[in-house]
Amino acid sequence: MIEIFLIYLISSVFIFYILKKVFFRLQLSRAKHPSLRGHSKLSRRIARLVPYFEYDENDFYCSDGAPESIAHKRQKGLELLVDLSRKFNSGSNAFSTSLEESVSDVDFTSAYRVPFPYRKFLNKELKTGRIVDKTKGVKIKDIDNNWRFDLSGSYGVNVFGYDFYRDCMEKGFEKVKQLGPVLGAYHPIIRENVEKLKLVSGLDEVSFHMSGTEAVMQAVRLARYHTGKTHLVRFCGAYHGWWDGVQPGIGNQRKTNDVYTLRDRSDITLKVLSTRNDIACVLINPIQAFHPNFDAPSDTTLISSDRSTNYDRGLHTHWLEKLREVCTRKKIVLIFDEVFSGFRLGYRGAQEYFGVQADMVTYGKTLGGGLPIGVVCGQHKLMKRFRDDSPANISFARGTFNSHPYVMGSMNEFLNRIEAPEYQLMYQQADELWNKRVEKLNQRLIEENLPVHVANMHSVLTVLYSVPSRYNWMLQFYLHAEGLDLSWIGSGRMIMSFNFSDDDFSEVIECFVRAAKKMKNDCWWWQDPHLSNKAIKRQMFNEMILARFPFIGKIIQKKIPGCTNETIKGVY
Ligand SMILES: Cc1ncc(COP(=O)(O)O)c(C=O)c1O
Repeated sequence: MIEIFLIYLISSVFIFYILKKVFFRLQLSRAKHPSLRGHSKLSRRIARLVPYFEYDENDFYCSDGAPESIAHKRQKGLELLVDLSRKFNSGSNAFSTSLEESVSDVDFTSAYRVPFPYRKFLNKELKTGRIVDKTKGVKIKDIDNNWRFDLSGSYGVNVFGYDFYRDCMEKGFEKVKQLGPVLGAYHPIIRENVEKLKLVSGLDEVSFHMSGTEAVMQAVRLARYHTGKTHLVRFCGAYHGWWDGVQPGIGNQRKTNDVYTLRDRSDITLKVLSTRNDIACVLINPIQAFHPNFDAPSDTTLISSDRSTNYDRGLHTHWLEKLREVCTRKKIVLIFDEVFSGFRLGYRGAQEYFGVQADMVTYGKTLGGGLPIGVVCGQHKLMKRFRDDSPANISFARGTFNSHPYVMGSMNEFLNRIEAPEYQLMYQQADELWNKRVEKLNQRLIEENLPVHVANMHSVLTVLYSVPSRYNWMLQFYLHAEGLDLSWIGSGRMIMSFNFSDDDFSEVIECFVRAAKKMKNDCWWWQDPHLSNKAIKRQMFNEMILARFPFIGKIIQKKIPGCTNETIKGVY
């Protein structure tokens, strides 16, 4: 009798255990974003299957099935851009091309500027060198003597204008030059930096690194060390540097089994955080509030017009408050990765902007005053790298160039300067100011009946496209020709510095409108009732299938894509 009872008991416990495991696994699956971005392993596998194919000269101009008359106008438009580029950018283009063979970054960025089927033909025709040698105010000069408005923001480093950083570097250098590049020992200037960073972050301790990526690596390593737990939670689409430990999807070949990529702004995610016991830390990139669950927008992937944003400061604040609560309750380390948002969204960065205090914060980019930097700030208990009672149990982190005196010097100048009332005022006014400016830009685009508008979060802007088109990425070249300098990701992220005056921005607006008008006149936004975003994506998918399995194309006699002889239904 007792034996039977024991068998029942053990079986019940076992079944209960299995059911519980299945339940939590299902909950975790539901907390993943349904898109491929939410499924890192699958996305990597599928990425490997995407075949390369390219459009030749004929297909390039009518990959959307436009008639020949439209293709002809597009061709003329591109020829004009090429002429302008040859005339005004020949030095920069030749220089850049000569680097492509030897500097892998140049090779990569010039390839990944437009969707890949268009790459080969376009790169053959239109060169896009960005070799620059001077800045002044909000403008940057290339080696062909063209001055353009800088909308690239130097990856976000440029918050206050290049003149400001030049000063920080020069004055910072003056402060430490008698020491020279001594490493290991500290220049006394470090103390003031540390005290200011503690105040800004609201945390107790600081460590210095050489890049944002390194700072994130260190924060995550410490969180695992102190919690004894294995997993990191990051949110779908969020960028935290190029370390594979925070980039489990496309872009990294290594399998990462200790990262959960969950949905932003989702109650199921909160449930997962509340119920699992293996989560060491939650890593947040506050700029994701602009487009939760989506990657930072880049023109490389712009094959249709469904790029969107979903910025709601109130909603996101509420979401971060809920995350804060669950992390505190479950002893999960809440890390704000403020490498981009720090010293931009506010003096105290996103913590101040959203009113939420993190357990650890990483900074980088602008904080170096123009020199390379990564910083981790954290509570004492999280920053300690060894245990008093277990001498071999350490969390090791060093770095030859950490706390480089020249970086400490320019950081010191940066931190001191931005305390001045004029900079504090800039912080207080920036949100409203950029909202107003972007509104003005959009008003002009409406007046001119152009199928583009711009969305912003604070001083970060993105271009959205309002009619279905396969050619929106062409806008970057028209903008460049009209005197606007963008980074290699094109019109997806324009990062504005606070030294733009209203007049400067009015000029930017006019350049922008001129560029969009020319693009419209050159018919890249040609419309047809069959051309929907869905149809474009379906077509792209079919083209991939045909490229992967060419025999199918032979059987069904299908070629991709080709101009049609249809009459024009409507022309933008
Ligand atoms: C939020 C965030 N974290 C980390 C990084 C990586 O910083 P770095 O490029 O200095 O390594 C970046 C860079 O863009 C970033 O935006």
